[in-house]
Amino acid sequence: MYFRNKNILLGVTGGVAAYKSAEVIRLFKKQGADVRVIMTESAKEFITPLTLQAVSGNEIHDSLLDTKAESAMGHIELAKWADIILIAPCTAETIAKITHGRADSLMGAVLLASNADIFIAPAMNMNMWLDDSTQNNYKTLLKRGITFIGPAEGEQACGDIGPGRMEEPDKIINLISSSFNSGPLANKTITVTAGPTREQLDPVRFISNNSSGKMGYSIAEAAIEAGAIVNLISGPVALNANSKINLIKVNSANEMQESVMDCMKTSDIFIGCAAVSDFKSSDISDTKIKKEDISKIDIQLEKNEDILANVASKYKSAYVVGFAAETSDVVNNAKKKLISKNLDMIVSNDVSDKAIGFDADENEVNIITKNESIFLKRDKKIRIAREILNFMSLKIN
Ligand code: CTP
Repeated sequence: MYFRNKNILLGVTGGVAAYKSAEVIRLFKKQGADVRVIMTESAKEFITPLTLQAVSGNEIHDSLLDTKAESAMGHIELAKWADIILIAPCTAETIAKITHGRADSLMGAVLLASNADIFIAPAMNMNMWLDDSTQNNYKTLLKRGITFIGPAEGEQACGDIGPGRMEEPDKIINLISSSFNSGPLANKTITVTAGPTREQLDPVRFISNNSSGKMGYSIAEAAIEAGAIVNLISGPVALNANSKINLIKVNSANEMQESVMDCMKTSDIFIGCAAVSDFKSSDISDTKIKKEDISKIDIQLEKNEDILANVASKYKSAYVVGFAAETSDVVNNAKKKLISKNLDMIVSNDVSDKAIGFDADENEVNIITKNESIFLKRDKKIRIAREILNFMSLKIN
């Protein structure tokens, strides 16, 4: 209930993404908020006032000059009532109007009169977003302390691909709660490992695996949304991390272990997502091994340290979560690892299924603790990450 007793004023403007505003309202209410809605006339072309009235449980506000409304909840009352104002979706036109302080609509007048924190989730064609006028307006509003959430990149209603999509409702809600330091992981420091490790044989050859790092980066992103301070210790991957994440890049399992142990001195939670190489070469050649010098190579491998097990045994007060990539008897094998490594929770997935294994964008997992096993059906990795962290936050708070 991160918005318990909070008054949220949602402004809905005319864009295809207006259909998502019902979900935004539902999620705010689920977290304890009272939600009132202002709609522009063009918003009503995309979603009906009746729908948003039914979901919010309050009458829709749409008119600046309405004697009935002014006597009950007029624009000044609305402005004072709101703790948070979110405009989602927010069109280029509305962004321009806000920039110029126009008060010829209920939305414009309320924004001028309110001291609430203002969030904008833009939604428009990518060229409209990237146009100089919109970009200048955006920078002006940032300077005034308005927070922008998105736009997200991706395929747009018009078929273009680029920045302009409204962010997903669950991400909007999480980012607003984290900005009030009220997310489920507020005041927690979390260290996450991601990606593969590389175990060098010589300066140009190494042993590694197919891990893309997507699950670990999604966990780190979701932890930022949930208000945590995040260290992400990553093996070599082709992914960008959110700028709020403290990203530490490593190569080998030894380097990963060193960084993890350092970060754990100030962390409350460890999540081991990395596909750490179980073995490393006993002998790393300083120079490139030349094929004409030898007819075969005998590579002697020795075990790497188990980072996850070491964290669990050294940092007993930390909440320690492992991942188990299995190909058979997934839940039972994962449970064995939970017990043998002395973990608080393990997340298992079946890497024999290509759609959810290494490098896939989706995952399907079981969250396993000593007493529970919960199945999360196939979904985007970022959504799975949010569910894992929500579940975990209930255990630690
Ligand atoms: N892990 C780790 N350090 C290692 C090996 C694994 O921290 N040297 C962590 C992984 O990040 C993951 C968990 O341990 O969270 C499970 O790793 P996995 O490879 O599935 O299992 P193993 O314990 O290595 O056992 P096996 O490969 O035999 O299944």
